[in-house]
Amino acid sequence: MNKPLRIALTKGRLEKDTVALLESLGYDCTAVHEKGRRLILPIPDAHLEVVLAKAADVITYVEHGVCDMGVVGKDTLMEMNGKLFELVDLGFGKCKFALATKKDYPFYDGFGVKTIASKYPNVTRAFFENKGMDVDIVKIEGSVELAPLLGLADGIVDIVETGTTLKENGLEVVEDVCQISARLIVNTVSLKMRQREIEQLVTRIEEKVTEREEQGI
Ligand code: PRP
Repeated sequence: MNKPLRIALTKGRLEKDTVALLESLGYDCTAVHEKGRRLILPIPDAHLEVVLAKAADVITYVEHGVCDMGVVGKDTLMEMNGKLFELVDLGFGKCKFALATKKDYPFYDGFGVKTIASKYPNVTRAFFENKGMDVDIVKIEGSVELAPLLGLADGIVDIVETGTTLKENGLEVVEDVCQISARLIVNTVSLKMRQREIEQLVTRIEEKVTEREEQGI
């Protein structure tokens, strides 16, 4: 028998949502639940091996073919722009990219070049290039909301989910950039070499995602 298909999951919420999805397909994910500090776990009845990694690393492992598939947010996919196939919008991990500033800040007034802080410089660059607007971009690693509060930036491009972080820090959305959700990605060579197995799993996942959408889950 072939070795199991390897699927890299983004540790944390996307991992939990993916495991719930696999369980709803009837697969036994006990090993993942009882992982302790282990990072590679089997789902024998699905003939899968789960690899737990940070979002950007999920893309790296899938792109290099050491994992056949992966689950990662569209945010990281947009930022990294890897050479891989994005096969399914999984319908969970929903949030958006937005441009935000301090409340009532006149962002689009005046002609000076604005400074934008973001964990996602490529997404930010593409957004403003599309507007034909020249901006300076400062890369920040986390809690990007601090940058306008400390006077480092005029605005931020960041992920907004509930809006609570913005609200509790006196910031507001000026403009939505795009919607985000979790995606199933596949290595280009794996898709050719193990097409039948991957397509079988992808079809089952797609059917379940559609069923959930119809039920409003
Ligand atoms: C993300 C994002 C916002 C926050 C948005 O940060 O960068 O800060 O979540 O969520 P909300 O709209 O529900 O408040 P994360 O928690 O990933 O931490 P980080 O800023 O350190 O990356």
